[in-house]
Amino acid sequence: MPADRDPPVLEVEGLSIAVHGDHGPVPVVHDVGFTVGRGRTLGLLGASGSGKTLTSWAILRLPDQDQRVTVRVLRLQGRDLLTMSQRELDRVRGRDIALVQQDPNAALNPYLSVGTQLCEGLRLHRGLSAREAEVRAVSVLHELGVAAAVERMRSYPHELSGGTRQRMALAMALLMEPALLWADEPTTALDPTTQAQVLAALRARQRATGMAIVFVTHDLGVLAQVADDVVVLHEGRVVEAAPVEQLFRAPQHAFTRQLLACLPDRTEASDV
Ligand SMILES: Nc1ncnc2c1ncn2[C@@H]1O[C@H](COP(=O)(O)OP(=O)(O)O)[C@@H](O)[C@H]1O
Ligand SMILES: [Mg+2]
Repeated sequence: MPADRDPPVLEVEGLSIAVHGDHGPVPVVHDVGFTVGRGRTLGLLGASGSGKTLTSWAILRLPDQDQRVTVRVLRLQGRDLLTMSQRELDRVRGRDIALVQQDPNAALNPYLSVGTQLCEGLRLHRGLSAREAEVRAVSVLHELGVAAAVERMRSYPHELSGGTRQRMALAMALLMEPALLWADEPTTALDPTTQAQVLAALRARQRATGMAIVFVTHDLGVLAQVADDVVVLHEGRVVEAAPVEQLFRAPQHAFTRQLLACLPDRTEASDV
C-alpha cells in the first residue's frame, strides 16, 4: 500500500460547467469534487444527463468551445493540471491518464488494423519491438476475453462487433499502464458474462499496477462489481459520496434509494 505522504492520484475541487443555451450560459455541473487514491476505483454514478461525460471532458481538460469550465483544484499525482502548458498536458494525457470514451469509435482509426493501433503506443512510447508489442497486446486481449485474439488483431474496426470494439479501446488504454484510467461507461455494449470478465480483468490489472480508476456508469450492478468508493451525481451535483458497501447498506439520498429500489433482489455489493 502507498505511503500516506503520497498525494492522491486525482484531486478535483469546485468543478462547475456551463453550456451555451439559446439565452446564454446554462449551468449543468455544480461544484463537483472528489479524490481518487492509488489502486482505488471511484464509481461516478448518475442517470443519463446528470453531467458525467461533461465532467469527464472537463477533468481531462478537453472541453469544446461550447462549454465554460471553472475549477478550484485539479491535480494529478500532486501536479497542478491548471497551470500546465499545452505540451505538458499532451504528455500527461498520452502517458499518465488514459480515457476510454463511451463511444469506442472515438479511439479507433477506421483505416488501420486494430493490431497496428494497439501496438503503436507500445512501440513509440515504450520502445518495444513489433514482436514484443504484439505479445503484450494479445495478452491484454485474452484478459478481456477477446476470442481468437491473434486473428482479431488483423481486423479493421468495422469488421468487429460493438462489444469487441469496446474491448479494443479498453485494451489500448490498459496497454499504456496509466496512473489513472478514466472509463466513461466502457462496458455498456457487452453482454453480462463478458462484462463481468472485463470488470474482473480491470481489477486484476489494478492490483498488479496500482492504477487508479474512475469508472463512470449509470448501472448500480456494475458499480457493485467494480467500485471501492462511489460519488453519486444528480442533476450535475454530488448528492452522496460513500464507500460502496455503505452506499448499498445505507443510502442517504432519495435519488440513490430510488436507484437501489430498481435493482433486482440485491442488497449487498458483491466482492469481485
Ligand atoms: N455541448 C453541449 N451543449 C449543450 N448541452 C449539453 C452539451 N453537452 C451536454 N449537454 C447537456 O448537459 C447535461 C449533461 O450531459 P452529459 O454530461 O453528457 O450527461 P451524462 O454523461 O451523465 O449522460 C445534459 O442535460 C446534456 O443535454
Ligand atoms: Mg455520458
